[in-house]
Order: sequence, then structure tokens, then C-alpha cells
Amino acid sequence: MKSVILTWTASVLFSLAAAAPSAGFEQQCARLAQSYSPDAQTKVLLSEFVPAGTNLTNPDNHPSCQTKPFTVTLADMCRLRLKVATSDTSGLEMEAWMPVDWKENRYLVLGNGGLGGCIAYPDMTFTTWLGFATVAHNNGHLGDTAKPMLNNPGVVEDYAYRAIKTATKSGKKAVSHFYKSPLKKSYYMGCSSGGRQGLKAAQDFPEEFDGIVAGAPANDFNNLFSITGNYHKIMGKPGDATYLSQEQWTAIRDLIIKQCDGLDGVVDGVIEEPRICNPRPEAMMCAAGQTWKSHKCITATQASAVRKFFEPFYGSDGNLIYPRFDPGAEVTTDVTGGESPQFATEWYKYAVFNDPNWDFDSNFSVAFAEEMNRIDLYNVSTWKDLTALKKTGHKLLTYHGLQDGLISSENSYRYYEHVSRSMSLTSSELDEFYRYFPIPGQSHCHSGDGNWFIGATSQFARTKATEIPTEGGVLMSMVKWVEEGVAPERILGRNIDLATSVEKSSKEHCKWPLKNVYLGGDANVKESWGCQ
Ligand SMILES: *[C@@H]1O[C@H](CO)[C@@H](O)[C@H](O)[C@H]1NC(C)=O
Ligand SMILES: *[C@@H]1O[C@H](CO)[C@@H](O)[C@H](O)[C@H]1NC(C)=O
Ligand SMILES: *[C@@H]1O[C@H](CO)[C@@H](O)[C@H](O)[C@H]1NC(C)=O
Repeated sequence: MKSVILTWTASVLFSLAAAAPSAGFEQQCARLAQSYSPDAQTKVLLSEFVPAGTNLTNPDNHPSCQTKPFTVTLADMCRLRLKVATSDTSGLEMEAWMPVDWKENRYLVLGNGGLGGCIAYPDMTFTTWLGFATVAHNNGHLGDTAKPMLNNPGVVEDYAYRAIKTATKSGKKAVSHFYKSPLKKSYYMGCSSGGRQGLKAAQDFPEEFDGIVAGAPANDFNNLFSITGNYHKIMGKPGDATYLSQEQWTAIRDLIIKQCDGLDGVVDGVIEEPRICNPRPEAMMCAAGQTWKSHKCITATQASAVRKFFEPFYGSDGNLIYPRFDPGAEVTTDVTGGESPQFATEWYKYAVFNDPNWDFDSNFSVAFAEEMNRIDLYNVSTWKDLTALKKTGHKLLTYHGLQDGLISSENSYRYYEHVSRSMSLTSSELDEFYRYFPIPGQSHCHSGDGNWFIGATSQFARTKATEIPTEGGVLMSMVKWVEEGVAPERILGRNIDLATSVEKSSKEHCKWPLKNVYLGGDANVKESWGCQ
């Protein structure tokens, strides 16, 4: 903690000194558990003053949650935990972390991931440190699993839209009650499932947020699950002639980098625009008498499967079900792993069919995929346009890593163009309220071979984020857009070494439909790149 403070500027130090907790703050926080009783649906589970540097035990550390069992806090704050009923058989748990040094009365809600179920403690730590009164919630059930949805449609409804909406409203009430002061601006930030939740808010309840940051969104939810089923159907299981081992996928990835890295004018290990990369797996096929063992080559059957793997998934009428996999993201994913896709399989078993014995391999087909999209439980697809958002004047920023092995980045371009056509708005008209930033070399939400750190969900806790300036990243760019009217033209990305937290390079990522273009010089410095 000390070394971090030493790197801060004097002005930050002064503002910290000014914000030392008063005895009143601590007492008021402790009293909240008795004094706060907003409505019959809400139960206060806990209120306590937590000084910066506290090693908090996450109370509901479900083994399926990727969040760690302990979180070391970074800001003096009041911590409030609520339980909010959403129906007779469903409800959510949420926490509001309210910093002593509350900056500009800002309110921030964080989203979830996967089939979660998990409170985003690591991100709360950092956004509270940034001065946001931050709310995160468990999305209506505990754990990154669909099991609690079994025979309980209320839990499915919470997952589709209701938990984030309810937590947002409850959090606003609690935060303004505690500070005895109204919120000035309300923000949302999430990635993956959290990206879908952000788009759900933008589509259906945009009045709740002045600014929404939605990363790698899992929207077109049903078809996303279907393409993971389709990958499995194409590649098969260990022992199948089509199947590739992890080692073979790594070789395929190396081949694709060789074939496509240079398309952007510089060989730097990052495919700047995977959409123009058309992998040729045949280049790795065995000649007569060769084998993987002897020559690290694949069979013609395997090459056919790989070629199909990189094709979009089409329905029986020839219409697109879901866009293709990002070439270059092969080893960052489990879709190539030979098991039926875990999230999709759980969703079908527990949310759709209420049958834990439902069998994926004997049921999945194109017709099945089409049926799932037709069923679309509680409109979980999240595929409406942004007419409602535009009316409010509120802002949406989306981003998508172009090395995303879980959710194809092509889906974010596709959603952008869907909104453009559906609302009949050009990109400069969309710029008023909706901006999309493709992030080359970013994997799913975090990490990757390029300049992946953009100050977003699930990135902070993987680095010494307190030492990385947040200016130019997605969250603080949104704040600037909302509060100063300065809309982001570029997003500053950094390649942070995960082992050492050292910055290896930086780049300014361009706003779609502009693209990152190499201008010459050292590819690791941002001046060597432009937007065209
Ligand atoms: C937090 O506490 C747990 C349990 O005592 C411990 O294992 C962990 O190392 C602690 N973390 C830090 C950063 O002190
Ligand atoms: C799934 O497959 C099994 C056996 O192949 C079949 O009996 C069952 O009806 C199928 N279920 C659905 C929902 O299609
Ligand atoms: C889904 O959206 C449609 C169109 O907006 C609406 O009519 C319908 O009531 C919604 N269904 C559910 C279950 O929310």
C-alpha cells in the first residue's frame, strides 16, 4: 500500500487527507443495519465500516465462482449487504460499497459473468478506490451455474433481466439514503454476461444509467449457446476422426498467426483484423505416410473439421444463426475441448427443460438451435435496437476483444450494424449515443497478446491496477463523455505483463467503423498506429 501511495501525485494525497473518515461516518455505517428499512422486499444483512487494506472474506464463495475467496480492500468505506426478494420463490443478494472519498456523487453497478451467480468483489475493490459508490449483486442465484434455475422460472427471469434492474434500483435508494445526498450520475460496467446485462439495460431500462460500458456482450444469447454446441458437433470427442488435441489446436493457432499476422502490415503476434483472416488448415495436412507423431501434421478429415469450425453457423433457411469464431483465439478457449459446452448444456437442462438428465449429444441440431431461439426465455436474447436509449440521451460504449475464444467479436460488429439498419442511423448519428471499440489482441474480457488493458471489468485484479492510470480507459472515458460531454474517439489500451504487471506497449484503439492502421516504426509504441 505504501509504495502505491508514494507513486501518487500530491493532489491525490491532499484529497485523501481531506477524506479521512469521520467518527460520524463509521457510526452511521454501523447503524445502517438497524436504521435502514426501505421496503418489505428488502432485508439488510450487514452494515460495517471497512478500512482500506482489510482482507475481506467473500461470504458466499461458491466453488464455481472464479472470484477469489479473499479480497483486500483499497478504500475506506461503508459496506452494506442486502437481500432483495424478486418473487415468492426468487431473490438476489447484493452489496453496496460506499467510499468515504465519494467522488462527484457517482454511482456504479457491476455485472456478472457466465451463468453467474457471483458478486464481482475484485472489481468492486477498484471502482470503490476510484471513488464510485459501487453496487454488485449475485444475479439472483449463487454460483456460476444454472442449477438453481431447476423448476424455478423466477431465477431464470432474474438472470435474463430482473436481477440487474432490481439491484440497480435498490442500490440507488440505499446509497442516497446513506450519504443523505442525491446521486449525480449513474454508471454501469460489465463484460461477457455482464456485457449482455449492459445491453439489456440500454434496450429496456436505459433511464437507470447515464452511461453504460458493455464489454464482449453475450447478447443474441440463445444463438451464442447454439454455436458452442455447433463447435462441439463439428469437432467431436477424443477418439473421433475429426477431433484435435490441445497440442494440435496450438499448432493450428501458430499456423493461423503465420498466415494472418502480416495482413495488417506488421508481424507482431497480433492479428489486427481477424475478420479478413481466412485460415487454410490444409497447409498442415499430412502427405502420404506422414502422421502427427512423425510430422506434426493433421488428417484431411481434421482439416475439414477445422475449416468448418471457422465458418459461420447457418440455419435451415440459410440465414445466419451466429457468426464464426475469431481466428487467432484458438488456445484461449474451451470450446475446442471435446466436451459438450458446459454453459449451454446447463442452460438447456436447468432453465429450458427442467431435466438434469437431458442429453446434449442426442438432441443438438440446427432445428434444435432454431427452436431455442424461438423459445427465448424472458427475452434473454437481448437483440432489440437502441430506440429507448436514444430517447433518454444516455450513452452506451461497447468493446470487444478480437482474440475472444468464448464469444466471437464478429457478433459485436453485427449488433452495431443491426442497430444502424434497424434505426436507420448512420455511424455518425449513432456516435451521439452509441460507440463501439474493437480491441485487437484482447482475449475474452481480459488478457491477450495485444494492448488488452483498457481499465475495464475483470482487468483490475489481474494487474497492479492502482499503479496504472485509468485516464483513456473505457470507464473513465465514459465518465468524461457523460459529465463533460467529451465523447471518446479512441480507447487507450496497454499490454500489461500478467506475471510482472510491467507495461510492454500501448496503443490507442479506434472507434468503429475506423480501424487500427499501422503507420510504420516500432509497433509497440502508440505513435506508430493511426485510425483510418
Ligand atoms: C487474506 O486472508 C487469508 C486467510 O487468512 C489468507 O490466506 C490470505 O493470504 C490473505 N491475503 C492477503 C493478501 O493478506
Ligand atoms: C432428447 O433426446 C432424447 C433421446 O434421444 C429424446 O427422448 C428426447 O425427447 C429429446 N429431448 C428433447 C427436448 O428434444
Ligand atoms: C419479450 O419482449 C416482447 C417484445 O418487447 C414483449 O411483448 C414480451 O412481453 C416480452 N416477454 C417477456 C417474457 O418478458
